[in-house]
Amino acid sequence: MTPPPHVSPRDVLPDPRSGPDKDAELVQRMFDRVAPRYDLANTLLSVGHDRHWRRVAAAAIGARRGDLVLDVASGTGMLARDLGASGAEVVALDFSWNMLRAGADRGDPLLLWCNADGTRLPFADATFDAVTIAFGLRNLPDIAAGLAEMARVTKPGGQILVLEFSTPVRAAFRILYHRYLLGCLPCAARLVTSDPAAYRYLAESIVAWPDQRALASRIAAAGFQQVRWKNLTGGIVAAHHARRSS
Ligand SMILES: C[S@@+](CC[C@H](N)C(=O)[O-])C[C@H]1O[C@@H](n2cnc3c(N)ncnc32)[C@H](O)[C@@H]1O
Repeated sequence: MTPPPHVSPRDVLPDPRSGPDKDAELVQRMFDRVAPRYDLANTLLSVGHDRHWRRVAAAAIGARRGDLVLDVASGTGMLARDLGASGAEVVALDFSWNMLRAGADRGDPLLLWCNADGTRLPFADATFDAVTIAFGLRNLPDIAAGLAEMARVTKPGGQILVLEFSTPVRAAFRILYHRYLLGCLPCAARLVTSDPAAYRYLAESIVAWPDQRALASRIAAAGFQQVRWKNLTGGIVAAHHARRSS
């Protein structure tokens, strides 16, 4: 059916649901759509904090020249660039072609770009010294399957780093923050992007996401040990670090 002329095709595409029944194809289409303005919108809406969060994540991994690192759900490769600054070889993997394209167009000759699904990684077992995922795990249709794949391709004793929105530690701040997410963020997004629906999905998926301790348990269940986390910006974001069991 052809939509009436005043309705854009984007309006008739359903947006992904933030719950466990989220549809990977809709998530992929949504990121393909937001790709051209993704980095700018992120930086504006986080008031520049996103760059700091990724730098902390890269520092926690401490990759060195000669290391091989995989950044899953890499988007435009923002974390991959920070990881590669030390001379490590970094693969930036994402299933959204447009996100990778936007990153590759910036011309970083040292990154390797890979268009693939994070729940079916096209690599042999125990390939990488470290595997990272920034603001991506929440978007996978099956978190356990995603973590299991990351464990499979990490060398025994290798590192994993999950950077993700989390639960603010102080109760009063948490209540205000959730009000901001569900009430103000989609409105603020209207000012800096043409796609406020994507930011409604973002807000709902953050509120539904497990807190720091629950995520640590899920990482441990996937075959990692020594799981620790660092709260950033009062717990708005947490960086979970662990090592692949030997
Ligand atoms: C919020 S963005 C984060 C991008 C980047 N890591 C960053 O820090 O800006 C989430 C990314 O996850 C990707 N993604 C979601 N599900 C995926 C999957 N199943 N396989 C690969 N990439 C996926 C999306 O295409 C999108 O680029």
